[in-house]
Amino acid sequence: MAEYGMIKAEARGKVGLITLDRPSALNALCDQLMTELGQALGAFEADPAIGAIVLTGSEKAFAAGADIKEMKDRTYPAIHFEDFIGNKWETVLTIKKPVIAAVAGFALGGGCELAMMCDIIIAAENARFGQPEIKLGIIPGAGGSQRLIRAVGKSKAMDLVLTGRMMDAAEAERSNLVTRVVPVESLVEEALKMGEAIASYSLPSVVLAKEAVNAAYEMTLREGVRFERRLFHSLFATEDQKEGMAAFAEKRKPAFRNA
Ligand code: CAA
Repeated sequence: MAEYGMIKAEARGKVGLITLDRPSALNALCDQLMTELGQALGAFEADPAIGAIVLTGSEKAFAAGADIKEMKDRTYPAIHFEDFIGNKWETVLTIKKPVIAAVAGFALGGGCELAMMCDIIIAAENARFGQPEIKLGIIPGAGGSQRLIRAVGKSKAMDLVLTGRMMDAAEAERSNLVTRVVPVESLVEEALKMGEAIASYSLPSVVLAKEAVNAAYEMTLREGVRFERRLFHSLFATEDQKEGMAAFAEKRKPAFRNA
């Protein structure tokens, strides 16, 4: 596994674990960190031994947002022509394997947006989510205004985006932003357990299941159901579908070969 300066990446069984590791700035998402994150995600995506990815930070911060000090003197033409917060930030959206965000501490601004770009968020009891950009004279720039409303609805999304207040883990769970809340000390272990469960299934079905659920963000119900059915049919072309169903009938554990 490659060595990085601002993240750590290691395989834990069939799960790729990426830890944001820039403690001096509460994992603020600077250019170098986002470049390294993209590289690590790409490496796990290409590794056939990996079936799911966990993205986490420290106990104090998942990530406190885009790097304000790096951004503060940038001009409108520069960030516009560069399409700042464009492709590099969205690498996680191009990953076909499931990505679980394990969030402890602050997930603010771009940190909250990065977590929302992942497929599942598990929160530690001390997690705090927010879109505080309004306090800086800007607005969310990595999909926060769009993804938050889909997760928590209009009133709460407006509340968070317009007041810049933070929401604790209990409120995030009540609002359906996160799937569950766990003690801080067991956060990574719980996320890895979830990743291991996902990675034990047939990768083609996992990848298509993720694609089908994500399609609901962008399609009407009618189109989405039709899309899901095409993906469902296509899995009958895999050996793993034959194996999974034969194993059920023969009352044994399936041996999936990702084929
Ligand atoms: N960018 C750059 N540096 C940051 C940072 C950020 N987003 N967040 C924290 N840091 C740095 C601090 O400047 C500080 O560095 P120094 O020790 O060198 O002064 C260090 O991290 C520790 O931070 P604090 O001393 O502020 O720690 P705290 O515990 O008192 O407060 C906090 C924690 C409430 C998270 C506070 O740091 C904070 O408000 N951070 C900024 C949060 C924010 O506004 N995020 C949105 C950024 S804009 C964005 O993300 C745009 C987008 O949509 C993509």
